[in-house]
Amino acid sequence: MRRSVVRGTGHYLPERVVENSYFESMLDTTDEWIRSRTGIERRHFAAEGEFTSDLAIAAARQALERAGMVAEDLNAIVVATSTPDLTFPATATIVQAGLGMQRGFAYDIQAVCAGFVFALANADGLIRSGQADRVLVIGAETFSRIMDWTDRGTCVLFGDGAGAVILEAVEGEGTSDDRGVLATDLNSDGNLRELLYVDGGVSRTGTVGFLRMQGNLVFRHAVEKLAGTAKRVLDKAGLTPGDIDWLVPHQANLRIIAGTAQKMQLPMDKVVLTVADHGNTSAASIPLALSVADTQGKFKPGDVIVTEAIGGGMSWGSVVLRW
Ligand code: ACO
Repeated sequence: MRRSVVRGTGHYLPERVVENSYFESMLDTTDEWIRSRTGIERRHFAAEGEFTSDLAIAAARQALERAGMVAEDLNAIVVATSTPDLTFPATATIVQAGLGMQRGFAYDIQAVCAGFVFALANADGLIRSGQADRVLVIGAETFSRIMDWTDRGTCVLFGDGAGAVILEAVEGEGTSDDRGVLATDLNSDGNLRELLYVDGGVSRTGTVGFLRMQGNLVFRHAVEKLAGTAKRVLDKAGLTPGDIDWLVPHQANLRIIAGTAQKMQLPMDKVVLTVADHGNTSAASIPLALSVADTQGKFKPGDVIVTEAIGGGMSWGSVVLRW
């Protein structure tokens, strides 16, 4: 049976770092409020003229280098983003050209903060079905471009960045090749779309719009739905929470992450945390966290890693893989 194994990770964060104290001068908020309610201490914002594809290309280059591959080795690029460079073409095609790749195919996936989990599941499907042997999966966002800087309930939460993972097909089971993606679980409920959305778009308003969120309601759905999807994905893989070596959750809010870990009966020292330094980078948050943890040498071959995320839609899901 074909499986998809992670061959390399990479990430990129824009140079500009903005501490919580930056918002104290422009809004009725404090560093203490932001830290205690969210766990966020700072975030990165893209420079003027720096686009989602630029962040994605930088992350992709690092992933290729770590995988010992060049762009021509890839069959496909899947970019998860809700902040594409342009309405079309897909940001993934801009990344493809930027990497100098002359073959294969490239497209975007949009499931907001759950985007990377959806993209990873989708890339795994491409590999399992034989459509591709090597897929570059990227989460990249410039959420600073859709912030309402007068809304203290949202603009302090988000940041910009990109993370990338290269999946490669392996054949066989029961050998060292029982590594790779073991199971996926995807969910959406469009009835909850008004809890978190952008109030502009090509067809409805002809504007870009700003992110709008009912934070406390999102929070309430998050812990319950994330613990639920993590349980389902483990069941599908024939595993239990006790088998997890690392949880790499979407980095939106430390309290959501801790609440979910508690529901899963998972100690916090098995949870990868980057929310303090990155804020919520939407679809980029999981590949960023994966790449940062990989850089720190946290993962050992054979480790069981669960990723889970929830975002606008609402859409949520999880992937379990063996490193
Ligand atoms: N500084 C100071 N006060 C603030 C701030 C701020 N930055 N933001 C909100 N407040 C105030 C509110 O106005 C409210 O004041 P009021 O009681 O006078 O009306 C008070 O704080 C409490 O507001 P709540 O929204 O109930 O605060 P809560 O404890 O729920 O924290 C937060 C808000 C941090 C947004 C939290 O609800 C949260 O993290 N929700 C989940 C968000 C999330 O994960 N979103 C991303 C999903 S990912 C995606 O798809 C993009």
